[in-house]
Amino acid sequence: MGQTIAIAGKGGVGKTTVSGLIIEALRRKTGGPILAIDADPNATLADVLGLKVDITLGEMQATTLATIRDLPSGVPLGRHIEYELHRAMVEGDGVDLITMGRGEGPGCYCAVNSILRRCLETLSRSYPYTVLDNEAGLEHLSRRVSQGVDALIIVSDGNPVALRAAVRINQLVDELGLGLSKRGLVLNDLRGELSSKAQALLAETGLPVLASLPHDDAIEALNLDDRPLSELPDTHPSLHAVDGLLTALLAPHEETAT
Ligand SMILES: Nc1ncnc2c1ncn2[C@@H]1O[C@H](COP(=O)(O)OP(=O)(O)O)[C@@H](O)[C@H]1O
Ligand SMILES: [Mg+2]
Repeated sequence: MGQTIAIAGKGGVGKTTVSGLIIEALRRKTGGPILAIDADPNATLADVLGLKVDITLGEMQATTLATIRDLPSGVPLGRHIEYELHRAMVEGDGVDLITMGRGEGPGCYCAVNSILRRCLETLSRSYPYTVLDNEAGLEHLSRRVSQGVDALIIVSDGNPVALRAAVRINQLVDELGLGLSKRGLVLNDLRGELSSKAQALLAETGLPVLASLPHDDAIEALNLDDRPLSELPDTHPSLHAVDGLLTALLAPHEETAT
């Protein structure tokens, strides 16, 4: 059965970049296909992967809800949503991407959400690895991410505000009883030493630091040029660091967190 890695953290800290690096490292290691799910309404994973999204699940939902009402009896809702899931999938070289997008109206998403989640779980079982790039909001963690996740990576930069968000996310995972023994921090976009305040917050998270990625001029240059992370060479340090963290995080029977 495949493993699902979820990435969480405050907005702007580099969740999508780290997701992209993880997907890239896994793709190069295994040949893929990796299932990538962009669960952030402000979806940018496709850009980082160099893929073009035709339609998001959120854009589909209005029609889905209308279709559900008109669905001939005998067509199971689950099968219909499974079909839509495949329609929303973009197939790249060694990576298949589904973009959740944003809901079209209040409550709409909830109507299909639980079935959708089940379908996504079923789908991810047929992939060796699923990488889930989450939205910043914490409530999301409980609703869509709670089940079927094997490892949680919380991303933070060196800013105390982002580290405080990491502390809260980690506490929420405990409060929700999500289990998730494979849990750790990735410090990203670092510029110099952490301040003493940041170090104190880092200790407060109680999480192991799985990798520390400096501000990366090559990543910045690709981003400015709208080019994908797949253009990074195998020897690129950030890619190498993420590859190392995956080896440690996904090793069987190895507890990397509390
Ligand atoms: N290590 C890094 N080095 C340089 N730029 C980075 C790094 N990590 C992220 N960025 C840049 O910071 C911005 C925000 O990153 P992003 O991954 O989109 O954050 P999030 O998904 O958490 O909102 C992007 O422009 C991205 O290219
Ligand atoms: Mg993002």
